[in-house]
Amino acid sequence: MTENIFDGYLSRNTLFSNKEFLRHNYHPENLPHRKNEIEILSFNLVEALKGHIPSNMTLYGVTGAGKTAVTNYVCNQLEEKGKQLDRPVQSIIVNCRQIDTQYRVLSHIGNSLLEDYEIDEIPFTGWPTDRVFGELVKRMDSREGVFVIVLDEIDHLVKKVGDDLLYNLTNLNSSLKKARSCVIGISNDLKFTDFLDPRVRSRLGQLDVIFNPYDAQQLQDILRERVTIALQENVLGDGVIEMCAALAAQEHGDARCALDLLRVSAEKAELGGSLKVEQSHVKIAQHQIEADQMTPVIAKLPNQQKIVLSSILINERNGLKNIQTGEVYSIYSQACRYLGTNALTQRRVSGLISNLDMLGLITARTISKGRYGRSKEINSCIPQNINPSEIMTNSEPELQGMFNNIYKYQTRL
Ligand SMILES: Nc1ncnc2c1ncn2[C@@H]1O[C@H](COP(=O)(O)OP(=O)(O)O)[C@@H](O)[C@H]1O
Ligand SMILES: [Mg+2]
Repeated sequence: MTENIFDGYLSRNTLFSNKEFLRHNYHPENLPHRKNEIEILSFNLVEALKGHIPSNMTLYGVTGAGKTAVTNYVCNQLEEKGKQLDRPVQSIIVNCRQIDTQYRVLSHIGNSLLEDYEIDEIPFTGWPTDRVFGELVKRMDSREGVFVIVLDEIDHLVKKVGDDLLYNLTNLNSSLKKARSCVIGISNDLKFTDFLDPRVRSRLGQLDVIFNPYDAQQLQDILRERVTIALQENVLGDGVIEMCAALAAQEHGDARCALDLLRVSAEKAELGGSLKVEQSHVKIAQHQIEADQMTPVIAKLPNQQKIVLSSILINERNGLKNIQTGEVYSIYSQACRYLGTNALTQRRVSGLISNLDMLGLITARTISKGRYGRSKEINSCIPQNINPSEIMTNSEPELQGMFNNIYKYQTRL
């Protein structure tokens, strides 16, 4: 049999027993350090099993704090119990980042009530909102019971299209005749209710639950639990879990980030043919993840911003640290000349620098220089393993040329 390019990989030792368990969409049954939150949710939702209306809730917390995982888990348990007791309870979870207009959310909810009920699907678009809403009420009433509507990442939708949807959904009980409903809003942004009409705010905010970020110790527990199902036995080197947890805790206590780090570290180890995941693999994984997060942000920057960022990187790759605005501006002006673009004023460039800071691509610290006034000390956050001339470019070859040319020119100086 002739050799196939995949043979080598297939026979290679794998460190994973099931990689899927480290992915974002896997929601485990056991959620360490979220006992309190689970209790608060279930204490409220048990009302649905008694045929009463649970309070509307808002869950807040940074990304990766376990809000979606906890809600999924509690809702599954609720439906399971409902079936056992023959009490009709249905939860409908909508991810408002993916389903991001009022119409689509309403039709999605309506269509998830299809199953054993022979009716036409609400079209993807085209009906007046009132009609979709009316259809939703009709379908709920025809099934009776209590509906728990979960609007995950609701902050995203409200910022995009306002709070009409929340107004309508939190008012659903006044239209329903037989069925009952409650709304759980999940937000990554603590200030999200500032965007709401006071009436919606008070209806939705009947019960607030805050999910605090995980600390390093808690992240370790989460990771330890997960490796037992995701990785082979004895493949973790010393301090690997601790390191993944510490890095993710520094970030903002994000369990997703910790799990990603562990998965990518194991992939790197596997790729290098190592029998164990070591701390060195975690470092490589960290750089890779940072790069993967930054590349799309950089690609979307307007051209002038790209030129400013290139100017910072050219200075930095030439060994300069704590770069000052004047130094950035000098390279920036050369770059504009090279590209045949008009250079903005130093003041405007200073504004663009602040913007890059806000995006997390650089840090710009204002320092006082005594009677010489104030200046900025600029450092990029772009890891060394990212090749700036590549990221500057994708779409604009002239920017790549510019970067390479000035970079070479400056190196020679
Ligand atoms: N307490 C926990 N125990 C185990 N896994 C968790 C825990 N909290 C979060 N996770 C996992 O971390 C990832 C992110 O959690 P998620 O619920 O999506 O966060 P959020 O919705 O707050 O952004 C998911 O894969 C989830 O399974
Ligand atoms: Mg979530």
